[in-house]
Amino acid sequence: MPQTHPLKHLAIIMDGNGRWATSQGLSRIDGHRRGAETTLNIIDYCRKSGIHELSLYALSLENLKRPDSEVSFLTNLIAQLCLENQEKLHQQGICIKIIGSSESMARQGDLGKMKHAVEALTMHNTGMRLNILINYSGRWEIQQVFESLQTEGCTAKGAELTKILKDRLLQGMTHEPDLCIRTGGEQRLSNFMLWQLAYTELYFTDVLWPAFSVEDLEASMVDYRSRKRRFGVIEEVAS
Ligand code: FPP
Repeated sequence: MPQTHPLKHLAIIMDGNGRWATSQGLSRIDGHRRGAETTLNIIDYCRKSGIHELSLYALSLENLKRPDSEVSFLTNLIAQLCLENQEKLHQQGICIKIIGSSESMARQGDLGKMKHAVEALTMHNTGMRLNILINYSGRWEIQQVFESLQTEGCTAKGAELTKILKDRLLQGMTHEPDLCIRTGGEQRLSNFMLWQLAYTELYFTDVLWPAFSVEDLEASMVDYRSRKRRFGVIEEVAS
């Protein structure tokens, strides 16, 4: 029996830009450029196919340890891409949230400015929600929430604390991701949405991100529909 949870929230770990570039005799920078084109195509396809929410892992806090030249190319590329496309995405009703360390984004001038601009422009939109995770890591995020609760002197426990954690960690997301795709052949989460992915279906593909097509995405969706999601309980209760 096919599972009964429609694919509302899709999360993607976009991996393999560098290896794709090497396989084509190109520079890593070219790989990121081509990867960015794939990102725009996939955003468009998700919007047209009625996905409610799309979360993209664009840059991890760990990625910031790469050579300065690659980090600054990547942050500029992401900022430029978001700014160049914000008006189109706004017209399409997309609500954009940039999730990650605002402190480190502020040090990367363009990213900080871009976050303020795109969030302010699109905040009232009611179409697809697009979360772009930049300068982000799952453990960092959980620690941030704990530190803010400590600062506030929060004494909540049990169900009350569970609810607070859920609200803070979902950050206004419609709900937890239903499916998480990782391209590029690795089979791990690499610090991506660690709390939110607890019951998410995982899909790994060897296709490198710049080569990831709409057909590849459709194949992952077909696979998702064949999964049985039980959320740790017996089948009748889960549906
Ligand atoms: C992983 O490839 C990819 C990244 C670190 C960057 C992903 C960013 C983009 C595709 C641009 C996104 C744009 C927007 C607007 C969200 P890698 O360099 O780790 O590849 P490798 O594992 O083959 O070396």
